Amino acid sequence: MSSLAPHAPYADGPADFAIGLKPIAPQAWLEGGEADPAARKDPLLAAEPDLVWGEIEGSRPGQAEVLAMVRAAGVRVEEGDRPPLLAAARAVPDDLCLMERRDGVWRLAALSLCAGSFFTAREAIGHSLGELHAPVPGFSARFLRRVERIFDGLRPDLILERRNWSVLNTDALHTPDPAPYRARIGEIDPADAGQRVFLRMERQTLRRLPQTGGVLFTIRVWRHPLAALDQDPARLKAFAVAWRGASDDFRAYKKLHLFDALVDGFLRARGE
Ligand code: HEM
Repeated sequence: MSSLAPHAPYADGPADFAIGLKPIAPQAWLEGGEADPAARKDPLLAAEPDLVWGEIEGSRPGQAEVLAMVRAAGVRVEEGDRPPLLAAARAVPDDLCLMERRDGVWRLAALSLCAGSFFTAREAIGHSLGELHAPVPGFSARFLRRVERIFDGLRPDLILERRNWSVLNTDALHTPDPAPYRARIGEIDPADAGQRVFLRMERQTLRRLPQTGGVLFTIRVWRHPLAALDQDPARLKAFAVAWRGASDDFRAYKKLHLFDALVDGFLRARGE
């Protein structure tokens, strides 16, 4: 039986876009729990380097600070002759994104992205916060200024966490493009929805790099089949509330309508 993830971001109520940042304790920063992240990440790097890795000129000092920070958290990192952020990312389950302020704008200066939720390093590298979030409805009007201010003012002693969720009909972690999966939703027998439809949850953290002034953004993807919710009636109910109350923008952006019949059938079969 698949186990539930340690995070239940859908339990925050009817789903909508939100900044949703909360402080966490330093010891909660990197959650670990994957025996050998490099064994998953190295083959992707060999096969599709520009989908999973990128850096811009001048980012190596910031990358070195990321590596030092990961080591300081107790992670053993084998650096070799790799770029420092890549070396750090091979040692942790999380994807690592280094944000730096360039010409007054926060930009993605280096990233290792082996569990990208529908974007790639090639598209994202060098982009500003505004450009990265262009596809997110209302982001620039509702959130961009606030997020930029958070990046400007983040104190070194504060670690912030945010989480999000979506559903997809695969448990693959490396999903640069959801289209090939979504094209096969129609093949799913509604009776199998609990096993074939997955809750995909991201847990992200933000942390200042005090020496170089950048911000480290981490992304960890957790997922389990919908049926895992049967282990916890409170989580099942919370998911039903989040799903049924999701805003139109949220539903459209995440293409949740494609899963309506499957998820609805799954919930109804459980009295939700
Ligand atoms: C305080 C920091 C941030 C906030 C509040 C934020 C917020 C959001 C929100 C609301 C979404 C829509 C999906 C969701 O519900 O999460 C999103 C998507 C996304 N975010 Fe962020 N984000 C932040 C930082 C970053 C950073 C540092 C990156 C750099 C890699 C990034 C890259 C993206 C990308 C690539 C997407 C998907 C956009 C697409 O649909 O193509 N975000 N973000």
